[in-house]
Amino acid sequence: MTEGKIMDKRVILEVKNLRKNFGPPAGGFTAIDNISFSLKEGEILGFLGPNGAGKSTTIYCILGLIVPDEGNIRIFGKDISKDRSEIFKEVNYASADFNLPWNLTIWENLLVYAKLYEVPEAKKRITELLQLFEMIDFRNTATRDLSTGLRARANLCKALLNKPRLLLLDEPMVSMDPDVVDKGINLLKQIQKEEKITILYTSHNMWEIEEIANNVIFLNHGKIVASGTPLELTQSVLKLEGDEPNLRDVFIHLSRSKYES
Ligand SMILES: Nc1ncnc2c1ncn2[C@@H]1O[C@H](COP(=O)(O)OP(=O)(O)O)[C@@H](O)[C@H]1O
Ligand SMILES: [Mg+2]
Repeated sequence: MTEGKIMDKRVILEVKNLRKNFGPPAGGFTAIDNISFSLKEGEILGFLGPNGAGKSTTIYCILGLIVPDEGNIRIFGKDISKDRSEIFKEVNYASADFNLPWNLTIWENLLVYAKLYEVPEAKKRITELLQLFEMIDFRNTATRDLSTGLRARANLCKALLNKPRLLLLDEPMVSMDPDVVDKGINLLKQIQKEEKITILYTSHNMWEIEEIANNVIFLNHGKIVASGTPLELTQSVLKLEGDEPNLRDVFIHLSRSKYES
């Protein structure tokens, strides 16, 4: 129930008053401190923050891998604690921290995931993605023999297999060289438009976020400390009147402000 409110159908993800403590109730550590945000259909939200800010913990809560202490998460208007299997058919995830099974080839790995996601015409979809990410020549290579950049690309192929409506990307390109990141960003933008995907995207690379995100949330110590478009964030945080986003300086300013307050 949403207290009589009609849910906006275009809200793909709604996170409300999320809180997560680690450790004992007394003297524990608050990783997520009462955050709320939402994503509309087709939006790409950049999730920024220094190491330990709580970005991955938030994503794990959205994926249902960590149970929050408080708060509510709705995906496609449904509560993730109730309609899990239905919701997660249309969600996917990639991270540089995530490894596909080591001994399987890329093709085998993608085939296993395609089965799990019940992807129609799986071989066709896998071939299409491998070609898009220029990985077709590596299809018979075992995951363990790929460079970290290629592994990250394989993770993106896995993340797109089921044509997700909601895609959670946790530093997906962290180990790729700038040329590959540039290609990866452009590909993601293209696929996002074609397949109308809604994306939550974390990265430390400000250029990446400026290139891809419509809106940005800045997280520090588990709290949202700033939000807006990349340009609004730059103008409000740095009190500048320019018309170029400069998220790198925003990042440094907001990450260090804990020491100043
Ligand atoms: N399972 C856990 N047990 C205890 N502390 C954790 C656990 N997972 C994350 N943390 C802590 O929570 C904070 C947020 O971590 P994380 O969400 O991984 O940050 P980010 O992804 O922004 O770098 C960090 O201080 C981290 O050490
Ligand atoms: Mg993280």
